[in-house]
Amino acid sequence: MISFQNVDVRFETEGGVVHAVKDVSFEIADRSVFGIIGASGAGKSTLLRTINGLEKPTSGQVTVDGRVVRNLSSRELREHREHIGMIFQHFNLISSKTAEQNIAYPLKIAGRNKAFIKGRVDELLKLVDLEEKRHAYPAKLSGGQKQRVGIARALANNTGLLLCDEPTSALDAETTKIILQLLRRLSEDLGITVVLITHELDVVSSVCDSVAVMSEGRLVETGDVYDVFTNPREEYTKKLLEMRNDFRIPDEILDRTRRVNAERGMYWRIIRLNFIGDAANESVIYRCSKQFDAEINVIHGKIEYIRGKPYGRMFVCLCGEREETGRVASYLSDRVYSMETLYEQ
Ligand SMILES: Nc1ncnc2c1ncn2[C@@H]1O[C@H](COP(=O)(O)OP(=O)(O)OP(=O)(O)O)[C@@H](O)[C@H]1O
Ligand SMILES: [Mg+2]
Repeated sequence: MISFQNVDVRFETEGGVVHAVKDVSFEIADRSVFGIIGASGAGKSTLLRTINGLEKPTSGQVTVDGRVVRNLSSRELREHREHIGMIFQHFNLISSKTAEQNIAYPLKIAGRNKAFIKGRVDELLKLVDLEEKRHAYPAKLSGGQKQRVGIARALANNTGLLLCDEPTSALDAETTKIILQLLRRLSEDLGITVVLITHELDVVSSVCDSVAVMSEGRLVETGDVYDVFTNPREEYTKKLLEMRNDFRIPDEILDRTRRVNAERGMYWRIIRLNFIGDAANESVIYRCSKQFDAEINVIHGKIEYIRGKPYGRMFVCLCGEREETGRVASYLSDRVYSMETLYEQ
């Protein structure tokens, strides 16, 4: 387990003190894929680097598997780092070395013998599905292939922990998917803990188990990805997610609903239902319309998948007598994940 306890990181610069990480406390479970998300300058990379001791907290402490990183002697710190792999947005491969030489490099540094290195490199090339590119230099590899070399290299020394700083930001959507699937597989099959910085919410929703949201050095919130994405507690997270979803009722539909109901002189309200699972909600609407004397029209909807689990939102216009639509709303509210009234007349 990785544990951050009141971690503060300040940099002394010519222009003054930069307070990069402010009193951050949370934990990262073993064998999970953990996302850290936040705007540029939020302190994500700085925080990540405290895990392998590349950055030292000004106060507070980071504990990895029960050992406080700042208390390690220089020999212990070297050992600690040996089993932590790191990959980067721009891959950071050695351009004068082939794929297999890049992967062999940390093994050489660790003093492994030739036969061991050869066996391990073969294993790693296979793991990242790059055996046919073993003799290629980085310049001859695609972005996705370079990142796979980066991953193999990061895993060389029996790595139990993989730190990823924007590993897919330089890749196209298709390649991003392949790399994320690979990271997921490493976590599930090899039990590796993956800590992944990204500014893309889709990366988090597709691959991470848990997430920490950071802003201006602070931890905004953290939790299970599905919980945070479907039920964010903090304003900052809500805004961040709204930007991604950009999911609202199109103006034309809203205008039409207003116009039609005004002409009919009926009371109406538009509610948003958030539901988990994709099948149940239809029967709820069906049962509801049989039970109550009100019009119930679905005007807009969307289902997305967060870590493979469906999360749906549906905009429904209720129309009829005021009290009856109120009863409909509370009936629905009891049967969905959450509900809010967006507009009412
Ligand atoms: N070595 C350093 N010396 C001085 N300031 C630094 C140093 N490293 C980072 N900072 C500052 O600390 C703050 C946080 O930087 P950090 O790189 O951790 O952010 P980030 O969330 O990773 O941003 P990005 O998404 O752009 O990579 C920034 O204001 C940055 O300028
Ligand atoms: Mg960064």
